[in-house]
Order: sequence, then C-alpha cells, then structure tokens
Amino acid sequence: MTNHNQPIGVFDSGVGGLTVLRAMYRQLRDESVLYFGDTARLPYGTRSPQEIRQFVREILLWMAQSQVKMAIVACNTSSALALEAVRSEFDFPILGLILPGARAAVGCGQRIGVIATPATAASGAYRRAIWEMNPSARVWEIGCPEFVPLIEGDRIHTPETREIIREYLQPLLQQRIDTLVYGCTHYPLLEPVLRQLLPPEVTLVDPATYVVEAAAQELDLLGLRATPGAAMTRFGVSGCPKSFASLSRQWLGFVPEVEQVQLPDLGPSLPATESVVDTVYRVVESREAS
Ligand code: DGL
Repeated sequence: MTNHNQPIGVFDSGVGGLTVLRAMYRQLRDESVLYFGDTARLPYGTRSPQEIRQFVREILLWMAQSQVKMAIVACNTSSALALEAVRSEFDFPILGLILPGARAAVGCGQRIGVIATPATAASGAYRRAIWEMNPSARVWEIGCPEFVPLIEGDRIHTPETREIIREYLQPLLQQRIDTLVYGCTHYPLLEPVLRQLLPPEVTLVDPATYVVEAAAQELDLLGLRATPGAAMTRFGVSGCPKSFASLSRQWLGFVPEVEQVQLPDLGPSLPATESVVDTVYRVVESREAS
C-alpha cells in the first residue's frame, strides 16, 4: 500500500531537472524527493527515441524499487518521446511536462515559440498539445543542440553563449512571437541571458511551475500529501557525483550529497543512435499556410 510519506521521484538527464526541483521546494515543501540525473548518458536530446525509452524505463524501474509514490519526468525529451509508451508499465502516477507547459502557453499568447532539444522539437509534441487546446495558435519549435552542453559545462555567462542564444532566437523574433516556452528543463538556467535578448513583451513560460501544480492536484486527489516536517531530498546520478554536486550548488544554494546509482539492466543493447540534429537544426513552422 502506498504511504503518503514515500518520496516523489524526479529525473532528468542532468541538472535541468533541478529547475523542477526548485519549483517543488516552492510549491510542495513537505514532499520528500528522490532526484536522479542520468549524467553518464546526457545529452538525451540528440539520442534516438528507442534509446530514450529504454533509459526512461530503467530509471522508472529503479524509482519503483526505491518505492516512490509518484514520478515527475523533469525532462521534456523523455516526456515527449517515452512517457506515453512506458506509463502503463508502472503502478504509480507519472507526470510529464508537455501538457502542463502547453496549457500554460495557450493561456499566455497566440504566437508561441518553443525552444527545445532536437529530439523534442522533432517529435512535434508541444505543437500537437498546443493545437489540441487552441487550433488557431501559431507555433514555431526550434531544436537547440548546443544549449545543454553549454549549461552542463557551466558556460552560461560567456560572450560565445550569448551569441549562440541570439542566433537561435533570431528566427523566432522574426516571427514576432508573444510567448516563449522553455521546452527543455535546462533552459530556465539561461534566463538572465534570454531576458536581455528578448523584447520585454514576450512572456516566458516555464512548464516546471505547472507540472508541480498538476502534481499537487494529483496528490490531493489520491490523498497522498506528505505529513509536514519530514521532507528530505536524496540525489543520485549515473555519472560523477562530485561534478554534479559542484555544478548544482549555484542553482540549489547548497552543495547536495550525491550518490552514484547503478540502474537496473534491461538487457540487450540498443540500436545505434540515429542523429536527429540535422533534421531539426532549424525552425519548424508548424502550421501549413491554409
Ligand atoms: N533537460 C532535458 C529536457 O528537458 C534533457 C536535455 C538533454 O539531455 O538533452 O529535454
């Protein structure tokens, strides 16, 4: 039987999911969290859908063994490419970012830009979700393969990064977007630079806030809110715990204790990664002129 003080599992390929964790610290203070960063295998955003699905299965299996009461997929790439395929394999609720992010975007504007990893942009997941809610919205998705390596490499505040971000934003600014969705959980960490480059009237949407809101509602519905006073966060990574701890400090405000985790082995190796970068290193104008 599920106990309301069991942790909520939160995972990403790396530090991006910390933007979701920060939202949890603001909005769900009493909950314990089991955070996992798949740092040995990042970035996810240039991997094949098969690989992403297998990684997500392994992580959720480990989370199930660790007795989470719910999981939040704090990775848009996994939410877009794996969530629907794996959700029914687990007996706890699993929440992703696409629907809450799309709902928030639709509430903000009509000309919506989405910056995302190449895999998320290629999947069209945001576009589909936005159109289901507002068929007349215009949506432009752009794959930004360089952003995650820059953030994981702690190179956010360099002139080169600013130039790269400016280049990616250019086509969206030409389309006069009124709303920009962070379609990758790493990207809110670029906010100080993005804010300088975007016109002030563009609303930035961070799906993290909204997925945590959805998680709160789900916990209420299931009667699974934790008892106040016992919240703790456990951090695990597949790569180097020390590097993760020192990189995370600037966003968490403390140095986390991080352990290395051995994920369950799901057997045969995967087909080689197909590169999706070439196909999505451009803006996808997502509505045919009709
Ligand atoms: N932060 C993740 C996302 O939201 C994954 C980034 C990556 O590893 O490419 O998509």
